[in-house]
Amino acid sequence: MNMAAIIQTKNLTKIYGGKVKALDNLNIEIEEGEVYGLLGPNGAGKTTTINLLVTRISPTSGTAIVNGYDIVKQSLEVRKSIGVVPQDLTTDEDLSGYENLKMVSRFYDVPNAEAEERIHKLLRMVNLEDVKNRLVRQYSGGMRKRLELIAGLVHDPKILFLDEPTLGLDVTTRTQMWKYVREIQEKLDVTIILTSHYLEEVDALANRISIIDHGKVLATGTSDELKSNLKGDIIIVAMKTDEDAATIMKYPGAIEAKENGPKTVRLKVQNSDEELPKLIRFVSDNSLSVTRLTVQKPSLDDVFLEYTGKEIREEEPADMRQTMMNMRRLRR
Ligand SMILES: Nc1ncnc2c1ncn2[C@@H]1O[C@H](COP(=O)(O)OP(=O)(O)OP(=O)(O)O)[C@@H](O)[C@H]1O
Ligand SMILES: [Mg+2]
Repeated sequence: MNMAAIIQTKNLTKIYGGKVKALDNLNIEIEEGEVYGLLGPNGAGKTTTINLLVTRISPTSGTAIVNGYDIVKQSLEVRKSIGVVPQDLTTDEDLSGYENLKMVSRFYDVPNAEAEERIHKLLRMVNLEDVKNRLVRQYSGGMRKRLELIAGLVHDPKILFLDEPTLGLDVTTRTQMWKYVREIQEKLDVTIILTSHYLEEVDALANRISIIDHGKVLATGTSDELKSNLKGDIIIVAMKTDEDAATIMKYPGAIEAKENGPKTVRLKVQNSDEELPKLIRFVSDNSLSVTRLTVQKPSLDDVFLEYTGKEIREEEPADMRQTMMNMRRLRR
């Protein structure tokens, strides 16, 4: 095993009910101190991966080493060394924030003095110090999520698992959560593994990303590496008329041409610097009118599309509805 790897999966496979192959010989390696993002469409196997690594479920075959312990043979040791923030909310709404954290510390047998110090440090980190004695049922959605986040850290785990940490939160609350996750990673000595449906989220938080689909890793790298592996640049051309747009669709220098809105075409070209002069000549030779022209470097969206053949924005996580229901119930 690589000395720096804190998690290593070895042909990790999960088949549900003898037929649904959710994970297919997954091999990933996560280094100590990383924020590692698992990105994939619905049913890709993200939650299954997390559930296996936190020993909530057992593999059909293969195994993984988490913090030096085997998830199959040493599940108890694995559990003690990790923190989990599952997608569904877990804190007790009839207790205060402080009482919830205290309960977690007792569960993990954290000595009292140490627990007190730790709890207050965590409350300060996520700005919940002022509301620590308020009942959780009176917390806002964002406060509640912050409490969930630190509840996974009370026993000072080496690794923190975050399954869809900002699912269902509004954009402002989401970016606020990112700030806290970053701070936790910087100030506490913890490796973070997160899954997300939001490309912006993995782009903002993860230093390495694996794109997975059908239980397999399709690509791994930093966000920049994944983007630069994509061959070609994107040129978006908006035309004055539908006829002009139809002509541009047939531009011979494009590897790929797609509609991208009304009278607008998205051209994928080998190299935009070389292609632009040719494109301009084509426009002039055909007497076309361009109203707007933009060159785009590939985004993580494009990377995702390239590897999975799907747009992530069309996706809604399978358990989203459940989460929304939980949230509604909690608000009552
Ligand atoms: N308990 C289960 N029993 C049977 N099949 C399951 C079970 N849990 C998950 N699956 C199936 O395994 C596959 C992977 O599911 P998983 O929940 O790991 O995906 P995911 O990447 O987390 O998806 P999402 O983004 O929708 O949360 C899917 O086909 C799913 O239907
Ligand atoms: Mg999931």
